[in-house]
Amino acid sequence: MLKKSVRTILNGLSVAVFAIDSEQIIQFANNAACERFDLSKDNTSLFDVIPSNKCTDAANQILSGEITTLSLELTLQDVVPTTFRLILTRLDAQRAGSEARAIVSLEDISHIREAEQMRIDFVANVSHELRSPLTSLSGFIETLQGAAKDDPAAQTRFLRLMEYDANRMSRLIGDLLSLSKLQASERVAPNKSVGIDAILRRVKASLEPLTKREQTQVSLTISDNLPMVIGDADELTQVFQNLIENGIKYSHPNSTVSITAELDPSHQDQLRISIRDTGEGIEATQIPRLTERFYRVDKGRSRDMGGTGLGLAIVKHILIRHRAYLHIDSELGQGSTFSVFLPIAPTKT
Ligand SMILES: Nc1ncnc2c1ncn2[C@@H]1O[C@H](COP(=O)(O)OP(=O)(O)O)[C@@H](O)[C@H]1O
Ligand SMILES: [Mg+2]
Repeated sequence: MLKKSVRTILNGLSVAVFAIDSEQIIQFANNAACERFDLSKDNTSLFDVIPSNKCTDAANQILSGEITTLSLELTLQDVVPTTFRLILTRLDAQRAGSEARAIVSLEDISHIREAEQMRIDFVANVSHELRSPLTSLSGFIETLQGAAKDDPAAQTRFLRLMEYDANRMSRLIGDLLSLSKLQASERVAPNKSVGIDAILRRVKASLEPLTKREQTQVSLTISDNLPMVIGDADELTQVFQNLIENGIKYSHPNSTVSITAELDPSHQDQLRISIRDTGEGIEATQIPRLTERFYRVDKGRSRDMGGTGLGLAIVKHILIRHRAYLHIDSELGQGSTFSVFLPIAPTKT
C-alpha cells in the first residue's frame, strides 16, 4: 500500500489515479478512480478498467524500466465513447515502500475534443456557406464581361441575381457577428425592464412585407396588464423576429401564425410567449438539433427562403443570456409551437 500521506494527496485530485504492481494489478485507486470505474472484483488488473492493448503495452514499457514516464491518448468505446489522456509514471521500487511499481493517471478530455471538433465543423460550414454565393457571383461577373457584354436585358437579370447572392452573404456575415457578440456577453445578464407587447407589435409590423408575400396571417393575442420582463429590447426583438419569421416561412399559404403572450400558467414569475404555426412540423428526432449552428431540416427550403441556418442558434444564445428558455412542440404535418419563457422584472416598491 502507498503511504497514507500519498494516498490523501491522490484522493484530493479530480483525475483518476491508479497504482499498479509489476503484474499490472491495481494496488490502489484514488476516490476519482473508484467513482468512475468498477473495482469491485478482487485483483482487478489495469486491463480490466482500461481494456486497451495500447495501455497494456505502455504499462509494460514503464514496468520493464525502458522509460520512466509516458503519455498517451485513447478512446474507450463505452456506452458513449470517452477520450482519456493517460500518463504512466514508474515508481522507484525502494522509495515506494510497497508493491506499487507505477502510477497511471487518467483525465477525461472528451469535452475538449468535442469542442475542437465543433470548431472545425463550424469553420468548414462557414467557408462552405460563403463560398457558394461567392462562386455564383464570380460566374456572373465572368458572364457580364463576356457573353452578356452587349446584352442589356441579360445584364439586368444577372445584376438582380448578383444582388441576391450579395444579400445572402451579407445576412450570413451579420448573423455570424451577432452570434460572436452574443457568445462574448453571455455571462452578463441584461438588467433593464422591457415591455413585451411593444416588441411583439413592432416585430409583427416589420414582418408585414414577408407576411404579404407568403399570404400568411399573423394574429397577436396579448393578455392585459402583462408585467415587464428583464431584458434587452434589441435582442428580444431579434428572438421574436426569428421565431415569427420561421413560423411564416415554414407554414403554408393562407394559414395563420398565432402569437400569444401571457403569464405562464404554471410559473407566475415568468411570461410565456408562444408562436404557433400550422405548417409542415418537425420530426421529434430533429427538434433537439434545431438550435445548432447551420442545422436545417430542409437545406433547400431554408436557402430558398433566404435563411442562414443561424436564426435559432442566435435565439438560443440570447435566451441563455436572459436566463430564459425555449420550448419546441411539433407534430409532423400538423405544425409547430415555439414557446419562450422569460423571467418577469421585479416590481418596484
Ligand atoms: N416553425 C417551423 N416549422 C418547421 N420547421 C422549422 C420551423 N422553425 C425552424 N424550422 C427548421 O429549423 C431550421 C433552423 O431554423 P433557423 O435556425 O431559423 O434557420 P433558417 O430559418 O435560416 O433556416 C430551419 O431550416 C427549419 O428546417
Ligand atoms: Mg430562421
